[in-house]
Amino acid sequence: MFGRGADSRFKWVLWLSATAALLCLVVAFVHVRSDAAWSVGQPARQPIPFSHAVHAGGLELDCRFCHASVERSAAAGMPTAETCLGCHARVWAVKSQFAPLTTALALNTPVPWASVSRLPDHVRFHHGAHLRVGVGCQTCHGAVEEMPRTVKAETLSMGWCVACHTQAATERAGESPLLPASSAWRTITHQGIEIPALTRCSTCHR
Ligand code: HEC
Ligand code: HEC
Ligand code: HEC
Ligand code: HEC
Ligand code: HEC
Repeated sequence: MFGRGADSRFKWVLWLSATAALLCLVVAFVHVRSDAAWSVGQPARQPIPFSHAVHAGGLELDCRFCHASVERSAAAGMPTAETCLGCHARVWAVKSQFAPLTTALALNTPVPWASVSRLPDHVRFHHGAHLRVGVGCQTCHGAVEEMPRTVKAETLSMGWCVACHTQAATERAGESPLLPASSAWRTITHQGIEIPALTRCSTCHR
C-alpha cells in the first residue's frame, strides 16, 4: 500500500496545501482592505428609481431642498412624500412608479429609502459639526449630483474617519484649515500624555 513513492507524494501534498492556505490568507487580507468589502460603488435597492443626476445635477436642486437638517443636526434628513409630490403631482406623474409615495402619504409614514452610508449603532456622527468647519458633502459622499443611482463613494471605515481627524488634530487649532481657533477640539493632557481630543475613542463611540 505504501510504495516507494509515497513519502515524496506526501511531501508534495503537504507543500501544496500549505501554499493554498497561504494564498487564501493573502486573498482574504486583500479583500478585507479593499473597497469592495465596504460596498463602495454598489447601489442599494430603492422603492423608487430616484436619480440625483436628474434632480441635483440637471434640475440643479439644492441638497438642502431634500436633506433639510444637514447643517444643524446629526442626521441629514430624508425627503418626505410631500417633497416629491410637490412636483410629481403635476410633472412626470408616472402613477405606478410613484406608488410608494402615495402609500407613505396615505399611511402617514416615511418613504422607506434604503441607505448606502449607514454606520453601526455604536458610532456617533454629526453632519452639522462637519459642515460648520467647511467639509463639503462631496468629501464624504463623492459627486452625488452626477449619480443616476446613489452609491457609496468612500469606505466610511474607522481608519478613513481617523485619518482626517488625526490630520486636523496635528495641525494646531487655528492654523489648520479644518480647525478654527474657536474649535473646542484642542489637545487634552491626561496623566502627562497629550491626546488630541478629535482622535479619542469617546469622540466617535458611545
Ligand atoms: C429632490 C430631492 C433630493 C435632492 C435635491 C438631493 N437628494 Fe440626496 N437623496 C434623495 C433621496 C430620495 C435619496 C434616497 C434614494 C437614493 O439613495 O438614491 C437620497 C439619498 C442621498 C444619499 C445617500 C443616503 C444614505 O442613507 O446612504 C446621499 C449621500 C445624498 N442623498 C446626498 C445628496 C447631496 C450631496 C445632494 C446635493 C448635491 C443631494 N443629495 C440632493 C433626494 C434628494
Ligand atoms: C422641483 C421639482 C421636482 C422635485 C421636488 C422632484 N422631482 Fe422628480 N423629476 C422632476 C422632473 C422635471 C423630472 C423629469 C426630468 C427629465 O425628464 O429630464 C423628474 C423625474 C423623476 C423620475 C423619472 C426620471 C428618471 O430618469 O429618474 C423619478 C423616478 C423621479 N423624478 C422621482 C422623484 C422623487 C422620488 C422625488 C422626491 C425625493 C422627486 N422626484 C422630486 C422634478 C422634480
Ligand atoms: C465628514 C463626512 C460627511 C460629510 C461632510 C457629509 N456627510 Fe452625509 N453622511 C456621512 C456619514 C458617515 C453618514 C452615515 C451616518 C450614520 O449612519 O449615522 C451620512 C449620511 C447621510 C445621509 C443619510 C441620511 C441621514 O439622515 O443621515 C444623507 C442624506 C447625507 N449624509 C447627505 C449629506 C449631504 C447633503 C451633505 C452635505 C450638505 C453631507 N451628507 C455631508 C458623512 C458625511
Ligand atoms: C475631511 C475630514 C473629516 C472626516 C473625513 C471626518 N471628520 Fe469628523 N470632524 C472633522 C473635524 C475638523 C471636526 C471638528 C469640528 C469642530 O471643530 O467643531 C470633526 C468632528 C467630529 C465629531 C464631533 C462632533 C461634535 O461636535 O459633537 C464627531 C463625532 C466626528 N467628527 C465623527 C466622525 C466620523 C464617525 C467620521 C467618519 C464616518 C468622521 N468624523 C469623518 C473632520 C472630519
Ligand atoms: C473619528 C471617529 C472614530 C474614532 C476616533 C474611533 N473610532 Fe472606532 N469606529 C469608527 C467607525 C466609523 C467605525 C465603524 C466602521 C464600520 O464598521 O462601518 C468604528 C468601529 C470600531 C470598532 C468595531 C470594529 C469593527 O470591525 O466593527 C471598534 C472595536 C472600535 N471602533 C474601537 C475604537 C477604539 C478603541 C478607538 C480609540 C482608540 C476608536 N474606535 C476611535 C470611528 C471612530
